[in-house]
Amino acid sequence: MTEHQLPQGFETLAIHAGQEADPQTGAVVTPIYQVSTYKQDGVGGLRGGYEYSRSANPTRTALEECLAALEGGARGLAFASGLAAEDTLLRTILKPGDHIVIPNDAYGGTFRLFAKVLTRWGVEFSVANTQNLDEVRAALRPGTRAVWVETPSNPLLGITDLAALAEVAHGAGALLVVDNTFASPYLQQPISLGADAVVHSTTKYMGGHSDVVGGALVLADAALGEEVAYHQNAMGAVSGPFDAWLVLRGIKTLGVRMDRHSANAEKVAELLASHPKVSQVLYPGLPEHPGHDIAAKQMKAFGGMVSFRVVGGEEAAVEVCNRAQLFTLGESLGGVESLIEHPGRMTHASAAGSPLEVPADLVRVSVGIESIDDLLADLKQALG
Ligand SMILES: Cc1ncc(COP(=O)(O)O)c(C=O)c1O
Repeated sequence: MTEHQLPQGFETLAIHAGQEADPQTGAVVTPIYQVSTYKQDGVGGLRGGYEYSRSANPTRTALEECLAALEGGARGLAFASGLAAEDTLLRTILKPGDHIVIPNDAYGGTFRLFAKVLTRWGVEFSVANTQNLDEVRAALRPGTRAVWVETPSNPLLGITDLAALAEVAHGAGALLVVDNTFASPYLQQPISLGADAVVHSTTKYMGGHSDVVGGALVLADAALGEEVAYHQNAMGAVSGPFDAWLVLRGIKTLGVRMDRHSANAEKVAELLASHPKVSQVLYPGLPEHPGHDIAAKQMKAFGGMVSFRVVGGEEAAVEVCNRAQLFTLGESLGGVESLIEHPGRMTHASAAGSPLEVPADLVRVSVGIESIDDLLADLKQALG
């Protein structure tokens, strides 16, 4: 963990970037500007640049400036969901006939967006294991416009070397897009490693409390940021003011939460690794994980997500999910409370029959920040 240095003051930026005290009242928290339109002082006479809340809203602006600061990018943009952010980015950087390389391990909804929506719009994709750079190189074509990656990936916790992948993508004239949802910018900053665009489901660690659905993009380059902002307004999938406010509030504690998520997950992974009912643990913090050294190089800690395979196959894995008590059975991740799920039947059901299909005996846990002894006791009883 010594090679990676976060830029100084991450937690300070999380609490203050884009969030000056309200100039009129001195309120220390950015207000929820629950408003659709703004009075003009004469036609075109905008106060502070705001005319209509799809185009811009002060609460969303605060979040967008904070996002850009945390990821070290030129422009941050907040959306109604992670998938809305992905769709807006993709339909900005791709046009019909273009090609994109996507990973063989990713959120099922992201795969569905490529396979069922963008293909109808004339975009072609190839699937490659992004942990194997030769496979990525072999998938590149003259029309490849972008390479997409998740690291750690959902749900197999695969680790891709971002600096090396950026070189491969840029060598082919393609952009590198990183879905940084699992790590959060506290643990990993892809733009500093060469990424051109960072994607988040802010529903997860950024919001952090399972009370909001949201998405974000951060663009390394200001000109590309401007182009995506144009599409954000033209396509309209923006974050509402209250949702933006919830994400902004969540971000203030991102650092302390991620430290606890990571510490608890390391203990959970250790327990699972020594359990006779578990055939494999997928957690980059374990020294035997194939991506451990790369993760140690490019992440501050290993995060709060752990997946494992259960002896006895699919039904045994489903039973573990059903027996859990403190780990709530449910989709999503990244909240303060621990969650458990069966990816094959739940979050990744849309990838069934595709190259992204997940093992049937896989269980995924989002390790929360509850007392670790309680979490370990629940997993032990769920495993039986
Ligand atoms: C890694 C990852 N990216 C993107 C998304 C999509 O985000 P949302 O559900 O906010 O649309 C998810 C959702 O689970 C995810 O896990």
